[in-house]
Parts: sequence; C-alpha cells; structure tokens
Amino acid sequence: MYVHNADTPARKPVTVPGLHAMKAEGRRIAVLTAYDASFAWQLERAGVDVALVGDSLGMVMQGHGSTLPVTLDQMVYHTTMVSRGLEATLLVADLPFMADRDVPHALEAGARLVGEAGAAMVKIEGGAPHVLDAIAALTARAIPVCAHLGLTPQSVHKFGGFRIQGREQEAAERVLAEALAVQAAGADLLVLEGVPTALGERVTKAAGIPVIGIGAGPHCDGQVLVIQDMLGITRGKRPKFSKDFLAGRGSVAAAIEAYVADVRSGAFPAPEHCFN
Ligand code: KIV
Repeated sequence: MYVHNADTPARKPVTVPGLHAMKAEGRRIAVLTAYDASFAWQLERAGVDVALVGDSLGMVMQGHGSTLPVTLDQMVYHTTMVSRGLEATLLVADLPFMADRDVPHALEAGARLVGEAGAAMVKIEGGAPHVLDAIAALTARAIPVCAHLGLTPQSVHKFGGFRIQGREQEAAERVLAEALAVQAAGADLLVLEGVPTALGERVTKAAGIPVIGIGAGPHCDGQVLVIQDMLGITRGKRPKFSKDFLAGRGSVAAAIEAYVADVRSGAFPAPEHCFN
C-alpha cells in the first residue's frame, strides 16, 4: 500500500515494469542498500529508485567477514524495518545463503520476504541450474526476482576471496550465458558485480532486463553501492568501485542526493572506480 508521508513531495512509486521502462528510455537507475527504517527514509527522500536489503548486512551491520552467517529470520527482520521507511522506492531483499538450496526453501524465503516483510522483489545469487529453478518457481508465483552474477559474495570460498570475475574469455562468456539464462528463467532485474567494464557493457547490451552494476563499469543501466561504502564509513579499506559521497558534503542526505545525481548523469562510476 502506498501511503504518502506529508513532509516530502509525493513521488510516483517505482515498480518492476517502471524499471523496464527506465532501461528502454535510457534513464539510469539509482540503487543503494539500507538495513533500517531511518536510512530507508533517507533513500526515499533523496529519490533513490530501489532500496536493497542486502545480506551485506552480515558484514557492515553484524561485523562478520562474509555474508554467509546471515539467516532468513535476520533478513526478514531488517526488510521489515526498511519497508517502514519507504514510500515510493522499490524494496528488494536478498535470499540469504542456502535459502535457494531447493525450490521449497526458495519459495518459503520469497513468501516471507514479500508477504511478511514487505519486499517487492527478492534477489538470488548465481546462474546454476538450481538457481534457475528457484527463479522460475518464484516468478511463477508472482514474486519478482533480481538475479545477481559475477562476483557473487555467497561464493566467496569458491572464488578464494572477493575477486573480480570474468577476466578471462571463457569466464566472461560464462557470465554472459548466465545472464541470458536467468533472464529466460524469469528474472526481472540483474545485479552484475565485480567484472571488467567491457563485460559489463556486453551483458547490459545483451540483456533485455535492466542491469545494475557494482564494480561493473559505467555502461550498466544503473548502479548500486553499499551505503556504508558510499558514506566513507566502511571498516578497513573502501572498495575501489565505491566512492565517498559524504566527503566535502555536510550531511548524509546531501551525500545520497549527490550519488543519485551522479548515477543519473553517468558521472559515477568514473574510470578510477572500474576494472579493465
Ligand atoms: O548484499 C548486498 O548488499 C549486495 C549488493 C552489494 C549488490 O548484494
């Protein structure tokens, strides 16, 4: 339900067909993570198109070294809080590690994140056959799916760390094939993480669905960052693909507004945020 809170001008709610229209019209999509109602409200006020409750919360909120310990109950808890801070911004929530192990578990996770917590779409990592089955089953039940390819953090142990993917020709072709496969399975959106710029461009041109990049170059249909990274409050080194939008600005609100403006204009990501 869309209930406008009177202290900001009303914005047309962002919808899944609306994201497709943005790609078709060449309007870039601004996405940020959020994990609670107060930051969700900051995203809403700045006109962010999509808020993602990422399982990155395991790292930036809980202090783990990976996203793997995050549970479905924790995703439901954070998604519920974020949904209370949003009005027009579309809410996407991650399926946590192993929630996609088979179709019944994926459906159970999707039902809780959408039905109980208020997400409009769920995100699922990888392009393996069991993931394609989960995407098909969720979309058949009218639960829209955002796929996630490239550097998928739940595969950190398989990759031997958070490493850029698709550098070699064969690996690049695999990512491209997976993008077409998740789209054919029914995905409505694709996050492409940690791949060379040329591959980001190929996938974005080949895909009919919007491609949201994070460390995937400037040619994607939109960009996503973890909010702690773009506010410069990441523990340790800020990732190369991120930028501190708070530096030189007086408030979190101004930083998020600058991010939205730079994504829309194409000023972000700049070459120093990309992998070649
Ligand atoms: O978990 C997350 O926040 C994500 C984004 C980094 C895309 O998957």
